Amino acid sequence: MKTKKSSRSRKPLAEISRTSGDPLTQQIVPAKELVLRPAGYPLEVNNVPVNPLLRIRDEKLFSAYAVDQWQGIKVKPNDYLFDQLLLPDFAFEVVSVVPTEAHIVSETKIRLVEPPDLIPSKGKKIGFADVIGHENAKAKCLIIQKYIADSSRFAEWAPRRVLFYGFPGTGKTMLARALAWETQTEFFYIKATSLIGQHVGAGADKVNKLFEDITRKKPCIVFIDEIDSIGLDRGFQSVRGDVTEVVNSLISQFDLVEDQEGVVVIAATNSREFLDPALRSRFEEEIEFPLPNYDQRLEILEKYASTLPMPIEADLKSLARRTEGYSGRDLKDRVLKGALHHALSNGLSSLNESTFKHVEVIKSLKEKELYK
Ligand SMILES: Nc1ncnc2c1ncn2[C@@H]1O[C@H](COP(=O)(O)OP(=O)(O)OP(=O)(O)O)[C@@H](O)[C@H]1O
Ligand SMILES: [Mg+2]
Repeated sequence: MKTKKSSRSRKPLAEISRTSGDPLTQQIVPAKELVLRPAGYPLEVNNVPVNPLLRIRDEKLFSAYAVDQWQGIKVKPNDYLFDQLLLPDFAFEVVSVVPTEAHIVSETKIRLVEPPDLIPSKGKKIGFADVIGHENAKAKCLIIQKYIADSSRFAEWAPRRVLFYGFPGTGKTMLARALAWETQTEFFYIKATSLIGQHVGAGADKVNKLFEDITRKKPCIVFIDEIDSIGLDRGFQSVRGDVTEVVNSLISQFDLVEDQEGVVVIAATNSREFLDPALRSRFEEEIEFPLPNYDQRLEILEKYASTLPMPIEADLKSLARRTEGYSGRDLKDRVLKGALHHALSNGLSSLNESTFKHVEVIKSLKEKELYK
């Protein structure tokens, strides 16, 4: 298995001191702890990402596996290490290393932070202007942006924790991605369900480790998406299983980062009323994401219609009138995409009124609450 050799593959310490710099002055600084994040493969195939989702099965075993292949390599934050064994050329990014520039030695403890489900700051460009409506939320984001740029100015008046709440598909995650893009700061995207552990104590452990990484990377923004999936009021926890330990460690970590300059936590939920009251009370502001009004629906339809790969002949104003109660996601993914696919499967060359017949069908399903 270990036959592959490259400039990145394992070099014995003796070889390093022979090859890099002056052998007499080359000093081995042993790394005590190294934290990695899966960064994926460097290439996509036919526009399809080929990145597997990695989860650690046994932390001790992973550390041994990692030391075995990278022993002797000098690392610092933001470096990449390439797997040579199970997933050749799969990259891991160095999140942190103690001390900050050190060699991997047999005693180094190497651990992996779970991959964010998506890393908005590195994704497609989305700016505040792309998010239609939600002026209050955008105003708060601008304050967060100012704070990240100059944290010391705000002292105890800093924006710390904000809750975005509202109907599904109204743009909560999208605005968080825009904030990540606009601030270009370190951005942690965490799907709350990824914090649930498989055994007692594992969830709390995950939260604590995550916040350790967070405080090392400040200034930074932490976005906890779908927080209701773990932060449920205890009365509702029988539905989801007991996640009390995750909620409790989130609360204590929130209190700990209170004193950390440059850390902002934003959480998003569809149903703030189900949140654990102690968790909910930690948010300094709750910002609603309402469903779009007529003007906003029209703007959303116009925005996405302009990128459709087919001309549109239907009247968007009439569509905006007929879609009261639809979210931005409904308008893009159900109304416009539905029409495009209908046109494609019927060999049409434009989107005319007939391709939007499904709008009324969606509406009646929504009214029957088959769709939310
Ligand atoms: N206000 C908006 N302006 C522009 N596009 C929007 C808006 N709201 C939703 N969209 C479109 O719908 C998609 C889904 O929105 P998003 O995932 O941000 O919703 P959400 O509020 O996070 O939903 P959920 O509560 O289900 O997680 C966006 O990526 C975007 O394409
Ligand atoms: Mg979302």
